[in-house]
Amino acid sequence: MERDLKHDHTQLIEELSAAYTERFPRSAALDRRATRAMVDGGSHNVRLNRPFPVRIDSARGAYIHDADGHDILDFWQGHFANILGHNPAAVTSVLAAAFASGTGLQHGLTDQLQIETAELLCQCLHAEKVRFTTSGSLATMYAIMLAKVFTGRDRVLKVGGAWHGAQPWGLKGVNFAAGPQPWRPESEGLSAHLTDEVVVTRFNDSGALTEDFRIHGERLACLIVEPFAGAGNFMLGTPEYLRTARELADRYGALLIFDEVISAFRFRAGDLGFLYGIRPDLVTVAKIVGGGMPVAAVAGRGDVLALCGSEGGNRVAFLGGTYSAHPASLLAAKTMVSYLVEHEAEVYPRLAELGADMRRVIAEAFAAEGVPARCTGEPNELVTGCSMTSVHFPYDERTALDSPHVVLDPAFCDTALNQKVFQLALLLEDVYTLYGSCAASVAHSDADIERLGEACQAAARRIKPYL
Ligand SMILES: Cc1ncc(COP(=O)(O)O)c(C=O)c1O
Repeated sequence: MERDLKHDHTQLIEELSAAYTERFPRSAALDRRATRAMVDGGSHNVRLNRPFPVRIDSARGAYIHDADGHDILDFWQGHFANILGHNPAAVTSVLAAAFASGTGLQHGLTDQLQIETAELLCQCLHAEKVRFTTSGSLATMYAIMLAKVFTGRDRVLKVGGAWHGAQPWGLKGVNFAAGPQPWRPESEGLSAHLTDEVVVTRFNDSGALTEDFRIHGERLACLIVEPFAGAGNFMLGTPEYLRTARELADRYGALLIFDEVISAFRFRAGDLGFLYGIRPDLVTVAKIVGGGMPVAAVAGRGDVLALCGSEGGNRVAFLGGTYSAHPASLLAAKTMVSYLVEHEAEVYPRLAELGADMRRVIAEAFAAEGVPARCTGEPNELVTGCSMTSVHFPYDERTALDSPHVVLDPAFCDTALNQKVFQLALLLEDVYTLYGSCAASVAHSDADIERLGEACQAAARRIKPYL
């Protein structure tokens, strides 16, 4: 508790906020206007950094251009979706041509594009069937509904600190709360029985997982887990943990859902599970798959997905919405996925190199100023590169940063530096990150990575007097 108070960094945040307000006056004015029309001035909470968000005019490659005339080096890249950078010509040229030829907006019918995109995804994800939807949140919700009906069970096991989107079974155990019950429902307005169905386990802890299966296994419909913790701060699952997950799910008759909304096409032209040699029953994908457009999908076993079709009695109302399989979105998806398949040998080694360089320059920058900081996102023996990293400020250098349980707990890490200070301090250097998290795209140059390092060193200089 003493540590909590000591490290809330109120004064530092106030000073950074004052400098930020001076540096981004037009964004400040636009924020006052935005808050009159929108709750808190926007429609996605993570975009609404304090004291107000940067309002952008355009985005290309590694950079965003804001209303105050800054060219901001962006490591957030469209919710980590843009691995080719912002508005890559490979996708925009195809969309522009489609619109110019009179196609692209919703027609509300089926077409050949849907077949081609589905075939491509099934191939890349080693899936028997796929069904499209419009967001990762819907994909994980439908995957869980499918698992519940397939198994006839009600409980859902998820990892503490994992974000599966704003859907009923995703809204528990995302944010760490100090105290005896660290993982709670995230929202009011949900029936208690829904959140009670969700059991929270610990990432990369096979012992805890085994125990959770022992207690709840007979009632578990599924374990939903990211092979690479995304919102949980960029940690790869250990091969042993993910193997245990597969074995336990099989032993207890629960389904294994890999939520690959972040990781699909981030590490290779397909699912990350493949690198582990593990096939989940269902996989959910979105983000990169959409090529910058709203596309998501549930893919996997045909007998499970059949439950939302006539063969399975239409028992799960994964029916689709007005904009499911939207023509322009699917065209972007097919173009993006095809591009990544075709350029796999160039894109992924380059992303891996950029990721390693990011971790190196960040570590060097903080070390140079004597501020203890460490990066997550290290590869492992099966996944040899990772283009994402999150910066943490653990109190003890021996603490293993292998689970969201550790990096989100203020007892282990100075979470205020990661969650409230880092992003603001880097914005003062015209560098955008999401809290302490950065993702590379192939649009980032070596010079951009060096600039990230310089920005981190400037941030470290601002932070140091407050430690
Ligand atoms: C792992 C994971 N699952 C699901 C979601 C929800 O996806 P969407 O934002 O497209 O609804 C996200 C979003 O960040 C995510 O990271």
